[in-house]
Amino acid sequence: MTDKLVYVLNGPNLNLLGLREPEIYGTQTLDDIAGMLEDRALELGIEIDMRQSNHEGHLVDWLHEAQAQGAHAVLLNAAAYTHTSIALFDAIKAITTPVFEVHLSDPHTRESFRHLSYVGMAAKETFQGHGAQSYVLALEAAAKL
Ligand code: DQA
Repeated sequence: MTDKLVYVLNGPNLNLLGLREPEIYGTQTLDDIAGMLEDRALELGIEIDMRQSNHEGHLVDWLHEAQAQGAHAVLLNAAAYTHTSIALFDAIKAITTPVFEVHLSDPHTRESFRHLSYVGMAAKETFQGHGAQSYVLALEAAAKL
């Protein structure tokens, strides 16, 4: 049986994880998180395709691609675009592939401009505030679908 394909999409500044505000985001790099997710994915019989971009349109294109490729689900940490992007809201609504919102931190306990999530309004479920573990919890939820 072929593994279920799950896209793991990461938005702006997440390429700097490990260096970036470690008191908020921890010291793991995005590659560390990818390794951790790969291990769990293997156990769950899931194949992951993990990507990062600092450009909003790339994230929109990859959401469309996930649908076209027949992906089982998408994990999306849209980073700051979470709070600004109606284009991402529309893209999530435009596809039937279930999208899980992921955040390392808990935006609701931070600045008020992070309390609004366009991604969360369209996503199936949100996992936030658990550091890198938020990705693992979202992957486990995706595996159960
Ligand atoms: C983040 C939270 C966002 O508010 C922020 O803009 C990020 C990272 C998180 O994973 O905690 O860049 O998505």
